Amino acid sequence: MKDRFFRKPGFLFAVFLIAFASAAVFYAFRECWVFFPPMLRYVGGAMGIFFILLANAALALMLYALRRYGSKREYEIPFYQKKWFSVLCIVSAALALLSAAGVACILIFGGAQTVRVLLLYLKRMAPWIALVIGAAVAVVVLPACKGRKKAVIAALLCAAVVLGSVALAFPLAPYRITSDPLVLDTGSDYSIVFATSAKGTGFVEYEFNGDAYKTYAEENGRILGDRLIHSIRVPYKHLQNNTYSVGSTRVIEEYSYGSRLGKTVKSTAYSFTAPKESDAEYLVLSDWHSYVDRAFSAVSYLGNYDAVLLLGDAAAGMDFEEEAAEYIVKFGGTLTRGAMPAVFVRGNHDCRGGFADALPSYLGLESLYYTVNMGDLSFIVLDSGEDKEDGHVEYGGMNAFSQYRRQMVEWLRHTEPAGKYKIALSHEWQICEPEPELSRAAWQALADADVRFLLSGHAHECRFLHEGTEYEQTFLSAFPEIEGYIDGGISGKNYVASKITVSASGVGFLAKDTAGRTVLETHLPWD
Ligand SMILES: [Fe+2]
Repeated sequence: MKDRFFRKPGFLFAVFLIAFASAAVFYAFRECWVFFPPMLRYVGGAMGIFFILLANAALALMLYALRRYGSKREYEIPFYQKKWFSVLCIVSAALALLSAAGVACILIFGGAQTVRVLLLYLKRMAPWIALVIGAAVAVVVLPACKGRKKAVIAALLCAAVVLGSVALAFPLAPYRITSDPLVLDTGSDYSIVFATSAKGTGFVEYEFNGDAYKTYAEENGRILGDRLIHSIRVPYKHLQNNTYSVGSTRVIEEYSYGSRLGKTVKSTAYSFTAPKESDAEYLVLSDWHSYVDRAFSAVSYLGNYDAVLLLGDAAAGMDFEEEAAEYIVKFGGTLTRGAMPAVFVRGNHDCRGGFADALPSYLGLESLYYTVNMGDLSFIVLDSGEDKEDGHVEYGGMNAFSQYRRQMVEWLRHTEPAGKYKIALSHEWQICEPEPELSRAAWQALADADVRFLLSGHAHECRFLHEGTEYEQTFLSAFPEIEGYIDGGISGKNYVASKITVSASGVGFLAKDTAGRTVLETHLPWD
């Protein structure tokens, strides 16, 4: 009987690889499983789908093994020529192709933002994926090979094991600082933040009043060595109109007795100046959602600026430290070139994922609501948290923003900003979106504090609030003294960035998009 292609060993092993790769990618996509249709509960939800994909990979490998090592006695028809074997081969191949098509749809329609996170999950899973495929080749494929082919496969497996072991014990990738520092104004001092390509320590060096300072990123006397992101707090007066440099030593391992350290890297010197007069220009960015190049393009048309206001939503979420390092620290460092201060406002997407809890401390921020003074100008920095009720399915039962926002509004009621001019910053203009009454209380507190402007993002459009929806206008009519502005953000392939020019006469607003088109340009007085 003719041996059909779908029963051939090579085909069956290819089915195993496709089925296993699809299962791995599907598992790496699990941060979006919550969006899958509820009817999937009949198969155990998305986790059930994952186990089906994994079982199909195991089936394909078993069929391969049976085909390779099954009975070949001459007096009977080989079982792999029997109908049941053919049916299993076809079912497994069809399921593998179906799962591959599903995974391809995720990659194609998920968008670059989703794929970037998926790749980080795959990177974390890489040792397990390599282990499964390596074991399958060593246990199932290798024994059936002969002569030169067997020697080549055995040599490749040995090389992979040796290289993997060496890479685990001795990091092979070069160690470097990944961008210019981002100097965040914390409201009480500066936090100099920078990132490295691997885990290590962080320190800042400068001179002040004739004394040399080398300040480490530490907690309770212990130098922090298990981070990509390093933040060092420095007093305002130490950095203003001064120069500084940052450095880091790679930490390979720490022991109770001793440690194994790698290379030490240092930056060039940065000159730092913060706005100290009323007249200054502030770059305002929100909702870049990892599309940093589009944001940089829009910024390039806005001319010079003296400080940067980052209004949140750096990426889809904060599942990994790498995301914060790339889309907050490197992004902000590139915009500021380590030479001017920035203010960080958390967006709702910055509240999501396993790294979100650690984000404030990694940036050197003790609180995410605070006031920052630059010359005669006070910024009231607010944290609107998530945009839906705490019990929403997307949050996986891990949010308590309702109580948090109440505490913040209570703080806001008692805050008296020192500046002559006051601007509030909040990712969402509602400040407390899921609690409308608390939103009104927050706006009332801003009005009581003589805040003239509220800068926000989140809506992914550029406009003043009074140009918006009926709800916005109804809400705003109670607070005519406050002008709300939404600064832009990513929208399709376009990004809109804003710049405000602050002077004694008022605030100028200028917004440009990725192509350099002027989206908005106007000037509003302080009263
Ligand atoms: Fe947002």
